[in-house]
Amino acid sequence: MKMRVHQATQDIHAIQESEKTIEGEVDEILSSHKGEKADLIPVLQDVQQKFGYLPEEVLKKIAKFTDEPESTVFGVATFYAQFKLAPTGRNIIRVCRGTACHVRGGARILREVETDLGIKAGETTSDLEYTLETVACFGSCALAPVMVENNRVYGRMTTDKVKRMIGRRE
Ligand code: FES
Repeated sequence: MKMRVHQATQDIHAIQESEKTIEGEVDEILSSHKGEKADLIPVLQDVQQKFGYLPEEVLKKIAKFTDEPESTVFGVATFYAQFKLAPTGRNIIRVCRGTACHVRGGARILREVETDLGIKAGETTSDLEYTLETVACFGSCALAPVMVENNRVYGRMTTDKVKRMIGRRE
């Protein structure tokens, strides 16, 4: 019992430490801006670049810093595709949902990736290894069905290729 309490105390300290670190890093980012309304997007970009996403608490802090309502800051953060409100995986897999890919089995490819990763499109695996997204068209329709992993394009995908690619990394 004592051991468990000790472990829990250590966990709480670790969480507090990481929160302190994030806060320190956010303060550092904010200190390089003036806090004017025009700073909103550059600040969001800096935070996104630093953490890979925009934590909710940080968005509230940015609202105070730029003297904008929280709703405005959340609105901007959700409007632009470059901003993420949740952490993304180290690897990003994008499957095409466009017409050319669809008629050549794109839906099967997406289902296979979802099954192999155990997540749905728009989600990230719990170990933060993979994020799965869908795209309207990559502009590589001649290679349909298309899947992109970390900016590398894979054409004429089959479910077996998906299994090999994702299985290879397990
Ligand atoms: S429809 Fe899939 S790349 Fe264009």
